[in-house]
Amino acid sequence: MTVRRVLKMGDPLLYKKAESVAQFNTPELDSLVADMFDTMAALNGAGLAAPQIGVSQRVVIFGVESNPRYPQVEPVPTTVLVNPLLTPIGNEMEDGWEGCLSVPGLRGLVSRHHHLRYTGFDQQGKPIDRTVTGFHARVVQHECDHLDGILYPLRLRDIRLLGYEEALFPDL
Ligand code: NI
Repeated sequence: MTVRRVLKMGDPLLYKKAESVAQFNTPELDSLVADMFDTMAALNGAGLAAPQIGVSQRVVIFGVESNPRYPQVEPVPTTVLVNPLLTPIGNEMEDGWEGCLSVPGLRGLVSRHHHLRYTGFDQQGKPIDRTVTGFHARVVQHECDHLDGILYPLRLRDIRLLGYEEALFPDL
């Protein structure tokens, strides 16, 4: 178990489409997931995608108990999600401020589906099928975007909706 270096925006690997995981319940997948949790915890993240530590596979983790980076948000269960599939429900979109460990120090206002279903597997291959809303839905969309080479700044409607944390939220 190791805290890995997180790639930063500009690294070409972050813009690549990641490969599906072919085999579950392997020592390689277990150690990837363990490294991802160590890395996310060390940096106080709400989620992390495997490409962010240089592994181009369709694996994301996320989870929020109480997080100093996101003081006002509802908890999200700690989840390992492999080969995810997202299906938006309805057309309702919601704006929210996002940050990313690959874009340190910045936040951007991004529009996401409010309501969605996601399916996939945990690292043992056990199916996951959840229908979620709000911040939970936002975190899943942000992390799964990484698997398709999309960083949140690519989804900004207006570049002025991107800024430094201390300028946007001086009281935090
Ligand atoms: Ni991110």
